[in-house]
Amino acid sequence: MKGNFPIQKFNNLQTPFYFYDTELLRETLQTVVAEATKYDYHIHYAVKANANSRILSIIRENGLGADCVSGGEIQAALNAGFPAGKIVFAGVGKADWEINLGLDNDIFCFNAESIPELEVINELAGLKGKTARVALRINPEINAHTHHHITTGMKENKFGINLDQLDKVLDTLETLPFVKLIGLHFHIGSQLTEMEPFQALCNRVNELQQRLAKRKITVEHINFGGGLGIDYEHPNRHSLPDFKEYFQLFHKHFPAYPNQKVHFEPGRSIVGQCGSLISKVLYVKEGSVKKFIILDAGFTELIRPALYEAYHKIENLSSEEPEEMYDVVGPICESSDCFGKQLDLNKAHRGDIIAIRSAGAYGEIMASQYNCRQLPKAYFSDLI
Ligand code: LLP
Repeated sequence: MKGNFPIQKFNNLQTPFYFYDTELLRETLQTVVAEATKYDYHIHYAVKANANSRILSIIRENGLGADCVSGGEIQAALNAGFPAGKIVFAGVGKADWEINLGLDNDIFCFNAESIPELEVINELAGLKGKTARVALRINPEINAHTHHHITTGMKENKFGINLDQLDKVLDTLETLPFVKLIGLHFHIGSQLTEMEPFQALCNRVNELQQRLAKRKITVEHINFGGGLGIDYEHPNRHSLPDFKEYFQLFHKHFPAYPNQKVHFEPGRSIVGQCGSLISKVLYVKEGSVKKFIILDAGFTELIRPALYEAYHKIENLSSEEPEEMYDVVGPICESSDCFGKQLDLNKAHRGDIIAIRSAGAYGEIMASQYNCRQLPKAYFSDLI
């Protein structure tokens, strides 16, 4: 089954471009909010997944906060109307101007990842006569069993404070008057399709809370990060991720203290399925051992297949002819500019419209201008 696209309208538009199904985005947002509200969980959308200004506005309209990893993202979130009090700022390398931007806007929290970073936040906050609210990003040392480029919570990853360093960090915090510890933050990786690693994370956080209690520390906020995966194989059958099962798991395995607030930072699961990259077939090339569909989109528009060997479902929206086997490639002068090998697609012709599905997350935002190409435009199902 193919997706439902306004293909007549696509014929008149210059390809490649991103197409967002805003109805699906809104349905996804209503579902995530309804499921999280059952347990009074707080959701901060991970802006890194897609910072398109209209997408951000729709997300903000649904009451989510924003998880930002740069000054640029903080600015994008503010421009889209997210209240500063719902913005968290994470990232292993925050520059001084970015910290100052967060302080000047009184953002909700800095997720800090090291002692030197805490010292700089303390110094910059002190200069402004402010106290910065911080959560410690702890590296929980849990294997998320996902692609090694998007695993973040293992001992050898650059992210977070290692468990064996926590006491030293807490000792340092006692000497920093302009930072206030309000929470703990975790993120174990992205595109997790199994729930076990999240359960292991809950167990780890429970242990940590006990460890902190021995030092008479209880934090007001626990942030479990993002990571819930989407179904790249079946974007139509599973257009919504299973938020119900996801939040239920945390509710079951993580007993929050009274008055403790629990936060999440989903990115991919919010925007992944609502976006497709729409492209045209430039040429069908018959090689001596293979047939290639050469598209006008390349890894400049969607880098995930080249960078992570990621799978995206590809559909020929213009043809119902019997399927043939193709490698689907882009026009960029690199062999890695390939969207998929040995794929069965309806017989392709020059000018056919091709949809590369599940591209709403880490698609448009990771586009580049390599080969002096233009950044892709975006169109929306309700405005096209
Ligand atoms: N919170 C933190 C601290 C993160 O590092 C991330 C993602 C998220 C939340 C959101 O995770 P999500 O719910 O989207 O899985 N470009 C890669 C994904 C990189 C994810 C980086 N961190 C990709 O295209 O697969």
